[in-house]
Amino acid sequence: MDECAVIFYPQKIRVKVKRGSSLLEAVSDAHITINNLCGGDGICGRCKMIIKEGEVSDKVSDKLTRDEIKRGVVLACMTSVESSLIVEIPADTLAKEKLHADKDAERFRDFEQTLLFKGFTPRPLVRKLYLELDRPTIANNTADHERLFDAICKNLKSDECSVQTGLKIIKILPEVLRKNGYRVTATVGLRRHVAEVMNVEGGGAENRNYMVIIDIGTTTIVAHLVNANNTETLDAKACFNSQGIFGREVTRRMISAEKKGDEELQKLLIDDINRLIRSLSDGNRVNLKDINAVVCAGNTAMGHFLLGLPTYHIRRYPYVATAVEPPPLRAAEVGIQINPRGLLYSLPGISAWVGSDITAGILATGLYEKEETTLLLDIGTNGETVIGNRDWIVASSASAGPALEGASVECGMRAEQGAIESVAVANDGKIAYQTIGNTPPKGICGSGIIDLISVLLRMNIIDRNGRFIEGSSDRIETFGAMKSFVLVPPELASGSKPIFISESDIENVVTAKAAIYAALKILLKRLDLSFEEIDNFYIAGAFGNHLDVDNAISIGLIPNMPKEKISFVGNTSIRGAKLVALYQEAFEKIYELRQMTTYYDLMGADDYVEEFKKALFLPHTDIEQFRMIQR
Ligand code: FES
Repeated sequence: MDECAVIFYPQKIRVKVKRGSSLLEAVSDAHITINNLCGGDGICGRCKMIIKEGEVSDKVSDKLTRDEIKRGVVLACMTSVESSLIVEIPADTLAKEKLHADKDAERFRDFEQTLLFKGFTPRPLVRKLYLELDRPTIANNTADHERLFDAICKNLKSDECSVQTGLKIIKILPEVLRKNGYRVTATVGLRRHVAEVMNVEGGGAENRNYMVIIDIGTTTIVAHLVNANNTETLDAKACFNSQGIFGREVTRRMISAEKKGDEELQKLLIDDINRLIRSLSDGNRVNLKDINAVVCAGNTAMGHFLLGLPTYHIRRYPYVATAVEPPPLRAAEVGIQINPRGLLYSLPGISAWVGSDITAGILATGLYEKEETTLLLDIGTNGETVIGNRDWIVASSASAGPALEGASVECGMRAEQGAIESVAVANDGKIAYQTIGNTPPKGICGSGIIDLISVLLRMNIIDRNGRFIEGSSDRIETFGAMKSFVLVPPELASGSKPIFISESDIENVVTAKAAIYAALKILLKRLDLSFEEIDNFYIAGAFGNHLDVDNAISIGLIPNMPKEKISFVGNTSIRGAKLVALYQEAFEKIYELRQMTTYYDLMGADDYVEEFKKALFLPHTDIEQFRMIQR
């Protein structure tokens, strides 16, 4: 095989790739996270790198200036490796500190009180049971295997007393039992209706029993290390999902998986998970072999990538998942490095487009217990909507695209250091902004974009179609053929380039918010409900925590509801997954919730397009729906 070595600077990471591979693949092999958005289609222009040495073949791109081409700048996704290379990755191309994600991880450490509030009895999915077995006699010469199972059954509730184990454990039993005077610790993991004996060791070893709970987001992966014996969360870490190199949207990643094979996408995800687990175990002096389970929640596509399942049919009519309720598996089967016999729980989702992050959200918010009706909205690349109460639950998903997370917006970026996260009109009447980390601005993230559009609308700089009003501001400039509003002039921006929002950016955001609002309207219509009849409106996801409610209403992203009904409920995906991990009742409940929830497919709704079109205005064609805001 003709291989070329590629060395990336400033990371000094060397990888080998096949001659003719794309430079973006080499970046992915090197586990370097960059700020790209389009997944390698040559559209976003965010994968710029400088070829310092070696030969490449690159395609012409209008994303590069003449000066950049002279300096050896290429788009990694449009460039193939033709010899060994030395490549410099400019600071602007790299994804920076995961400040925002880590902040989220911090926030989700405090969990104890909510767990107790649920009223469940702590009983983790994997337990370590200290057992004192009767020594055999001539009158009691039951086999070692049965003797152990009898002792385990006495310790477990009777209704879960179907126990199984593998040959490996049975083989070591005679020695372990006799060497330790029949005083042993059995590690027992629950696989739905069967308890599996995962290990048997001598003496009392029940104090070392850990689990890792993971929310696999399309953008961010959050992992919590918990002590299963006392439900304590020891630590939390987060990182960006490395699959981002294949596109910000789930659909783009599925297309990549079809071209490159599911294994490639799976490997990136498993590598991220293993890095997070190792960092949690190293930082907390927990041995990997004492981590007995990993419990994951995420959208259905992420669940498929985790298990290496084909995603081909998810995005094709009639939109069928390979599995939405996969059984607990051995974590090692997918390459997760914990105790070699440790279990992987991939929680049940609802459909091809509503995943286990939403089932976990239904569980975590407790909406299934309430008499009053709750609307749960998870705003991400997909806007998942759940409406329900203790008698019924309906869920749907609208493809919003990544604009609300800062993608498909020219100066948009992820919510990380240097991102403008809020925009407001200051007392002096000027537009002011705030960046994450209070550092010079590099771009605008989702919450900042919503604020900015709301401010521009309020100041009559844009009209209700999202078009700039002639002569309304001296900060409207034309870049290329596109009118734009310059929020930050080049001299104040981190990259010495202006930070602006163009008419086409606004159009992308309006399209995304229209998709979400139309989904809400259709679902309510089908249920014969109005927004007034919704008692609680929960906004989930990291994005929600930074959202200005008034601004979100003013552009028509969320319905015009009294503020006291609206709550930000944070990352309900990880909260629900943790409930399942630590409370066996929650494990049973999540399967019940999956059965109880009806999926409503918006693709089959004749009036969806009509509702969508009505919402393609700021805030909406029907201004009456937003009357409270207009006053
Ligand atoms: S232009 Fe290369 S990844 Fe978008």
